[in-house]
Amino acid sequence: MKILSVASEVFPLVKTGGLADVTGALPGALAALGVSVSTMLPGYPSVLARLPKKTKALHSYADLFGGKARIVAGTLDGLDLIVLDAPHLFDRPGGAYGDGGGVDWPDNWRRFAAFARAAADVASGAVGDLRPDIVHAHDWQAALTLAYLRYDERPSPPSVMTVHNLAFQGQFPASIFPELGLPPQAMALDGVEYFGGVGFLKAGLQAAHAITTVSPTYAQEIRTPEFGMGLDGLINLRAGHLHGILNGIDTGQWDPQTDPHLAETFSAKSLKARGKNRRAVEQRFGLDPDASPLLCVVSRLTWQKGMDILAAELDAIAGLGARLAVLGSGDQGLEGALLAGAARHRGRIGVVVGYDEGLSHLLQGGADAILIPSRFEPCGLTQLYGLRYGCVPVVARTGGLADTVIDANHAALSAGVATGFQFAPGSGDALVGAVQRLCGVFADRGAWTAMQKQGMKTDVSWQASARDYVALFRSLAA
Ligand code: ADP
Ligand code: GLC
Repeated sequence: MKILSVASEVFPLVKTGGLADVTGALPGALAALGVSVSTMLPGYPSVLARLPKKTKALHSYADLFGGKARIVAGTLDGLDLIVLDAPHLFDRPGGAYGDGGGVDWPDNWRRFAAFARAAADVASGAVGDLRPDIVHAHDWQAALTLAYLRYDERPSPPSVMTVHNLAFQGQFPASIFPELGLPPQAMALDGVEYFGGVGFLKAGLQAAHAITTVSPTYAQEIRTPEFGMGLDGLINLRAGHLHGILNGIDTGQWDPQTDPHLAETFSAKSLKARGKNRRAVEQRFGLDPDASPLLCVVSRLTWQKGMDILAAELDAIAGLGARLAVLGSGDQGLEGALLAGAARHRGRIGVVVGYDEGLSHLLQGGADAILIPSRFEPCGLTQLYGLRYGCVPVVARTGGLADTVIDANHAALSAGVATGFQFAPGSGDALVGAVQRLCGVFADRGAWTAMQKQGMKTDVSWQASARDYVALFRSLAA
């Protein structure tokens, strides 16, 4: 079985968040089950620079949304890639979606419409000879692929639309519609029209044969007005085709026994070796070396992630005697609030603003716990990395966080199955209460290590979920 996966980011070529981790790791897990994946992604400079010298040209467009473009195929890091090389759209400095300073490119609709147009051509066999059995589109940037396939005259394979985050929908004014190259009837309630404009994700949700999202709890949540972000009506209409399939992690990239980013590697049997990583974290974040709990955060600094709630509780957390190391970037106001907290609590709170893959591994291997106070979280990956690295997750009870962490309540502790702490989302008091509970368990070395080890036993691999995807693909192809 052959899948065409269409995504705007793929680790290790281009990453702004968990989407890249998923699209980078799922192909390997599916390959083990006899399913081959070709991944289509935009030709950003970081992608073209790493493409092997030997690529296969699949197609040239004389004019794709205002410029010349090519589709090339090559293999890299075990991934079969199909890249849309369209310099007028993707050859620019900055990030995948904007200038790198927080401003989105104004022509994102054109960039990802062109990307989707090309992906639809590959999916339907109009271009190249891949002829996939399934086309799998990830998030709004890939969603229009399914609309193009729906309105093209040619036969096309069944499709899956995966929602990694309903907060990002790709909504644009109606004025772009004539430039999309879709037939007039597509500008309709059951097409791409969305609140008077054009909705890319909406169009994908409407056209997909199946919809998935990245945890069972989020699959339920997005059917409510609170989490549905305006799309709950449509999602409810399509609920019979909606599946929640939990993300896994790349257990090769994230393996405490071999991780090159750690000061010292370790396993559940050698947790003492985490001490060296702990000291390395203390040094990098300017923290007092002592025996108090060392908490960390690895996150986009945004409202979704509850970083304003965290910033407001820094004094309370320091007051409990815990230390905190924050690695993150995003909203400048939040960066400022966290840095101000670090200045108030020198030696107790340290903040590194920026994006640093290696440092994120070191934190998981050296901190005692990771705080994830998200208001909503489709799946979340950092709690899974935490579980695997003995870095106990302290999470808001929402989305995939609720599905992957077993709260250290009395029953779970006495049964020996607790793997972390859960608290009510959106509440600073609840976050501080969870840290207080953590401090209590931390003081009992035996109980704490038992909890770390229990977490490390959790299956966070792709195995089970890859089987769920295969079952879904097979049911659609049948
Ligand atoms: P989201 O995709 O919503 O940001 P996830 O938890 O699914 O959340 O994935 C976030 C990914 O990005 C993880 O791999 C995490 O380690 C990584 N990450 C987030 N912020 C940083 C940062 N500042 N430096 C390095 N890695 C980061
Ligand atoms: C999104 C979500 C996150 C999820 C990731 C990968 O970025 O915010 O919860 O883990 O996608 O699916």
